Amino acid sequence: MDVSKLMFREGLMDGERILVTGGGTGLGREMAEAFVKLGAEVHICGRRQGKLDETAEELMAAHGGKVVGHACDIRDAGAIHEMIDNVWTHGPLTGVVNNAAGNFISRTEDLSVNGFNAISDIVFRGTFYVTLDVGKRLIAEKRRASFLSILTTWVWNGSAFVVPSAMSKAGINAMTQSLAVEWGRYGMRFNAIAPGLFPTKGMSARLSPGGRGGNSNDAMNPTGRHGEMHELANLAVFLMGPGAEWVNGQTIAIDGAGYQANGGTFWGALHSLGDEEWAAMRDMIKGTNAQ
Ligand code: HXC
Repeated sequence: MDVSKLMFREGLMDGERILVTGGGTGLGREMAEAFVKLGAEVHICGRRQGKLDETAEELMAAHGGKVVGHACDIRDAGAIHEMIDNVWTHGPLTGVVNNAAGNFISRTEDLSVNGFNAISDIVFRGTFYVTLDVGKRLIAEKRRASFLSILTTWVWNGSAFVVPSAMSKAGINAMTQSLAVEWGRYGMRFNAIAPGLFPTKGMSARLSPGGRGGNSNDAMNPTGRHGEMHELANLAVFLMGPGAEWVNGQTIAIDGAGYQANGGTFWGALHSLGDEEWAAMRDMIKGTNAQ
């Protein structure tokens, strides 16, 4: 990311302590970079300690500050509890970014129960487990915090060919609105970002294998391009940083109006594929899983 394009002043996030799930790679890493650059202490979790340590070292080498990696599969509520215990040894969190996700394109009739669970256990259950574990501690300790969940515009219209993700993210959208109200009195606020296309390695491998994918084509976007990472990071900092405390219960799209133009979904590019094309894509995607 070009950090010179961050619109906020150095030191804005001094004293903040933020957990970014899935912060070792992709969008999570970019947001983590912005937070540490602006003064926050950042904790990142993901499945691979090596990757997390590498990211933490790179971000601290570039910006100073403190970034700590915690290996944790958020499908496991016990592992989350242990991870948050470790985070708390550094001090209480002031913010959580629910960014960790899993997704792959598939015809729904080709999914097994395990395939559905692989996505919903991460996105739907895992996100709630993290939020619940942190929320309980904050309530007990009478502390304020900001929560941000990374969703998609499919929370408003669903999307063909990514049904477990669309269902799960819509559930987290409901969580965002519900807890914004229920836990507002504890000084916790809940918002979400619905990003359009911000290309990352994991997303391209699982959502447009071989270049076949839904909204993977820049020309389909009204702006003729995809998103730039600093644009996403600026919105995340605005929502997580001090000064926006009354923004609560909102899901904000950042997609160049792709949602208004074409729904931001996968239907257009995928509905005409046949059995052989789907089989080839499934093989390509499975070859990249667990990377
Ligand atoms: C059909 C599939 C499949 C595929 C996996 N499965 N890939 N079914 N088509 N392409 C099935 C398997 O056959 C198995 O079911 C079950 O899913 C679990 O598969 P595993 O490979 O064992 O899963 P696991 O190693 O746990 O990997 C989880 C994963 C993987 C979610 C499948 O993709 C992953 O680790 N993803 C994390 C990162 C990620 O996805 N990033 C992109 C997020 S983008 P059976 O029945 O055979 O046992 C995003 C929003 C993008 O979330 C928005 C863009 C606009």
